[in-house]
Amino acid sequence: MKKVRAAITGVGGYVPDYVLTNKELETMVETTDEWITTRTGIKERRILKGDNLGVSVLGINAVKDLLAKTKVDPKEIDLIIFATVTADMTFPATANIVATAVGATNAWSYDMGAACSGFLFGLTTGASFIESGMYKKVIVIGGDKMSAILDYTDRTTCIIFGDGAGAVLLEPTTEDVGVMDSILKSDGSGESYLHMKAGGSRRPASLETVNARQHFVYQEGSAVFKFAVTNMADVSAQIAERNNLTADTISWLAPHQANKRIIDATANRVGIGENKVMMNIERYGNTTAGTIPLLLWDYEKKLKKGDNIIMAAFGGGFTWGAVYVKWAYNSN
Ligand code: UT7
Repeated sequence: MKKVRAAITGVGGYVPDYVLTNKELETMVETTDEWITTRTGIKERRILKGDNLGVSVLGINAVKDLLAKTKVDPKEIDLIIFATVTADMTFPATANIVATAVGATNAWSYDMGAACSGFLFGLTTGASFIESGMYKKVIVIGGDKMSAILDYTDRTTCIIFGDGAGAVLLEPTTEDVGVMDSILKSDGSGESYLHMKAGGSRRPASLETVNARQHFVYQEGSAVFKFAVTNMADVSAQIAERNNLTADTISWLAPHQANKRIIDATANRVGIGENKVMMNIERYGNTTAGTIPLLLWDYEKKLKKGDNIIMAAFGGGFTWGAVYVKWAYNSN
């Protein structure tokens, strides 16, 4: 019997309208367009403005785009996984809110908290439900409303992140395409370098935590940078090697968009040129779990059936990983 794999059969995405440029950030913190561009590659990012609008808004719009493009009836969806670290509320899961809003009334749903690697963790677990034969249609969303947890007086973090979400549909196939392999890692000793100090059960919200500005991203940037460069490149090289992929047979690298210098280092390690590296960091910044599905959304028209894509990410946790996907369709 032929092996059942999970094919990505559609991509949807959504970024909010408001564009926060480096120029505008120059008026908010002591920084320059030149510093941000040369140190990160980012020119602008999108921000979800408005009261009472959470990451669910991004996820709902991404899934609606996906369902419209694939013409799939939401009632056929079996499972929705939402990778995010900026859930609307601590509970219920934002995936539940999205499922109901898009009419996926027969789906069950849950959130996946793996920071910047969340989409790859979600993609791999979503694919497993398909490979096991349990489900026929799984949606994996990656998205974050990072503006909700950024300190816009801290120039070391507020310049990097933005808001956005992407979503993919997974369906079974017996063709030689789909999610082929994955290497996923986590290491809790990374906690001290990248976290949010308060608002969880260890340090619940209080007047003190608010006054101490502890409900924002805390990051030791240069330490995280070093771990990211090494680990993202390592897993990318490993997954290429164990699947006999070379610079010639890799069609695309889809790397987490945290910093152009980390992306370049990963591409160099795998030995591929810029023309094969998906990149949109200059327009969206780092949308955490949103970066990789938003890359697929932006590059979908260029992708061809059989393309070998290596997706790679590194982020808070630490979490990191690489997934090898053989693209399953030509879009026209
Ligand atoms: O996606 C989740 C995982 N996160 C990452 O992968 C992020 C990894 N880290 C990075 O991308 C980089 O470390 C940053 C972009 C966050 C920072 O870049 P860096 O080249 O590592 O800078 P640095 O932190 O070593 O700081 C160098 C200098 C410092 O000044 P001094 O001490 O040398 O005088 C900073 O104060 O740059 C200064 N600086 C800035 N200057 C202008 C830091 N942020 C800014 C800024 N504008 N926005």
